[in-house]
Amino acid sequence: MTTKRRLKELSYWIDSVYTGENVKDAYDVWSETYDRDFHRYYKGPEKVAELVLPEYGETVLDIGCGTGEVGKALSRKGGFIVDGIDISTGMLSKAHEKSVYKNLTLSSFSDFGIDRKYDICTAAGCFTTGHIKAELLRKVPFHLSVGGYFIVTFIDAYWESEGNAIIEDMLRKKVWETILHERYLVVSQIEGRPGEIDGAVYIFRKILNA
Ligand SMILES: C[S@@+](CC[C@H](N)C(=O)[O-])C[C@H]1O[C@@H](n2cnc3c(N)ncnc32)[C@H](O)[C@@H]1O
Repeated sequence: MTTKRRLKELSYWIDSVYTGENVKDAYDVWSETYDRDFHRYYKGPEKVAELVLPEYGETVLDIGCGTGEVGKALSRKGGFIVDGIDISTGMLSKAHEKSVYKNLTLSSFSDFGIDRKYDICTAAGCFTTGHIKAELLRKVPFHLSVGGYFIVTFIDAYWESEGNAIIEDMLRKKVWETILHERYLVVSQIEGRPGEIDGAVYIFRKILNA
């Protein structure tokens, strides 16, 4: 396939998952070329993994783990036991091939009901437009130990439309506190597409007894 055709296809998938009706089906198909084409422009997994520190703990739940790039980056760092959950069979099967997760669960985050707590939750590129609704950010602390860390990326459009209000409410209720907030370029300029996608990465810490 020519580079031009690959970029056109990449652009099609980005539009499909942000605006499409069925994000799961789109990812099932995109999973075949996701790692090959997207990671030149999208550094979410590396950004998130870089912020996961050994002093935060050992066990990690990677929400919306996709093809497993967060798990891969964490396995390069070493010292973490990582579980993943994702709604797409195609994406999960790619994650499985990388052999960097202890357990992988096929589930929508809204239905994910595993009864255990993790030291760290990560979420790169999945609390975003057309993906996991911001209201479900309220579910994250149930999967975290007290004092546990949540490392998450948001694009500006999602933050402004729904993320900010939920996060602000959780901060007000002292469910968690902000440890870090850093701007980052979520998707760099793709040839033939208008502009870049800007956003931010956050670290929240679940407050004791919250
Ligand atoms: C942009 S990809 C990011 C994947 C991976 N975290 C990364 O950074 O490469 C978004 C992922 O969120 C998953 N996803 C979308 N909606 C979901 C939901 N409701 N529950 C769980 N995963 C979901 C998709 O299947 C996809 O794998």
